[in-house]
Amino acid sequence: MSLRHLVVISSLIACQAPTEPAATPPVEPPAPTPPPAPVVQTPFERDLAPKLAGCLGCHSADSQNGLDLTDLWASVDEPSSQIEMALIASGDHLQSYLWHKVAGTHSIAGGLGQRMPVGSTWSQDDIDLLARWINLGVPR
Ligand code: HEC
Repeated sequence: MSLRHLVVISSLIACQAPTEPAATPPVEPPAPTPPPAPVVQTPFERDLAPKLAGCLGCHSADSQNGLDLTDLWASVDEPSSQIEMALIASGDHLQSYLWHKVAGTHSIAGGLGQRMPVGSTWSQDDIDLLARWINLGVPR
C-alpha cells in the first residue's frame, strides 16, 4: 500500500468518526407545586374573637360607657372605671374585671352594674375559654 493510499484511508476513517451530538442538558421535570398551607387560626381567633365581636355593638370607640373593646389587648393592664382592678390582668383571670363581668362574679369581686354581655349570657365553656386565654398570657 502506497503512502498516498494510507493518507486517503486514514482521512476517510477520520471523516467517518462519529461526531458526538452536542450534549443537551437533561430536561428536569417541573417541581410539583406544594399543597396550599393550611390556614392556622389561633384559639383566640377561632373561638374567642367571634364571641367578643358581640361586645362591639356597645363597646367601640364612640361608646357612651367609655369602654372600647375593638382592640382587646388595649385593655390589658388598663384599670376598670368601676373598681380598682385591671380590665385584663395578663396571666390571672381572677384579677381581670372583664372576666368577672362576663362570668357574673363582678359583684362578689366588689364591682357594680350588670353582667356582660347585656342581654345574654356566655356558656360556661366560653367563660372558661376566656379565663384560659387570660391565664395563658393573652396570646395573639
Ligand atoms: C347592650 C350593650 C352592651 C353589650 C352587648 C356589652 N356591654 Fe359591657 N357594658 C355596657 C354598659 C352600659 C356598661 C356600663 C354599666 C354596667 O357596668 O352595667 C358596660 C360595662 C362593661 C364593663 C365595665 C367597664 C369598666 O370600666 O369596668 C366591662 C368590662 C364590659 N362591659 C365588658 C363587656 C364585654 C366583654 C362584653 C361582651 C362579652 C360586653 N361588655 C357587652 C353595655 C354592654
